[in-house]
Amino acid sequence: MLKKILLLLVVIFIILQFFRPEKNNSNDITYDISTKYEIPEEVNNLLKVSCNDCHSNKTEYPWYANIQPVGWWLNDHIEDGKRHLNFSEFTKKSIAVQNHKLEETIEMVEKKYMPIDDYTKFGLHEEANLTDEERNEIINWAETQMNYLKQTYPADSLILKRKRN
Ligand code: HEC
Repeated sequence: MLKKILLLLVVIFIILQFFRPEKNNSNDITYDISTKYEIPEEVNNLLKVSCNDCHSNKTEYPWYANIQPVGWWLNDHIEDGKRHLNFSEFTKKSIAVQNHKLEETIEMVEKKYMPIDDYTKFGLHEEANLTDEERNEIINWAETQMNYLKQTYPADSLILKRKRN
């Protein structure tokens, strides 16, 4: 009996491997944040190692993403993260939304809500364990970009007209 159950589980596991989520792997940078905002090399690197896997159209997948259902679970995080903030499609949004997303970035990094805990658990993504200094670099950068928007656009274009993500 036990043998049969084990065999069944193995078969299910093998079948699962054939159902893979589509990879988040686009090189299209038409609306990328870097097309409009200046991003110093160090900040770009910090965003790359600690945010972009979930907040851009290009994820660097770890090997275990190839094992289902782990891959689906990662994909959920990526889809959810991109819905809230996508640096690859940043300039598609209105100026007010861009401004708001920069503000949220500051808040999330300051309060250490991002990158989410799971991402660095068990020694995974070690470079994403941001030091306070690295957090400050991201925060200062985002503040500078908000100032740039403030100086470049009329004040009322920076106000969110309605609550949205
Ligand atoms: C492992 C995936 C993952 C990583 C890495 C990650 N995030 Fe997120 N992020 C999410 C998810 C999922 C959400 C939406 C749900 C939530 O708010 O917890 C989110 C939400 C956000 C939001 C929007 C909050 C809101 O109120 O809508 C901001 C801003 C943000 N992240 C910034 C960052 C920054 C900056 C980094 C890098 C320092 C980062 N995230 C790293 C998954 C991630």
